[in-house]
Amino acid sequence: MRTLDYIGLNKKEVVPVVEELQKLLADVQIFYTNLRGFHWNIKGKQFFMLHEKYEEIYDQINDMADEIAERILMLGHTPLNNYSDYIKISEIKEISDLSGCEETLESTLDAFKILMLRERKVLELAGKIEDEVTVAMMSDYLREQEKTVWMLVATLEK
Ligand SMILES: [Fe+2]
Repeated sequence: MRTLDYIGLNKKEVVPVVEELQKLLADVQIFYTNLRGFHWNIKGKQFFMLHEKYEEIYDQINDMADEIAERILMLGHTPLNNYSDYIKISEIKEISDLSGCEETLESTLDAFKILMLRERKVLELAGKIEDEVTVAMMSDYLREQEKTVWMLVATLEK
């Protein structure tokens, strides 16, 4: 809690931001394990490209988990770290048994959609309390993810 006294954000006002960040963290953690599954199990003509691409994406997603968890700590709360909790609050659901190029790409795009809606929500709430650092984190994620989504959509086009 002491960190908040120094960074000058209000203890009560940060609560809605933290609640959304916890959900974003849960989404990110589930998405990470889904992407690892795609990296391992992918089959088909685009194997080499997608095997590598899924690794690149899960590395980015993994970095996000750490940044979001540390932001929650800076805002005076404890980040959730159990998968049993993540499963309860994550909007992204666990995926098994997907291995086709198209179906894994579609699933990845669906997950990015959920993630970006959540990030926009966090951005809006953080903006209201002038939490510029959280706002900047979200806009960095959105910039990177919108570009990734554009490339994944282009990959799916015939
Ligand atoms: Fe690998």
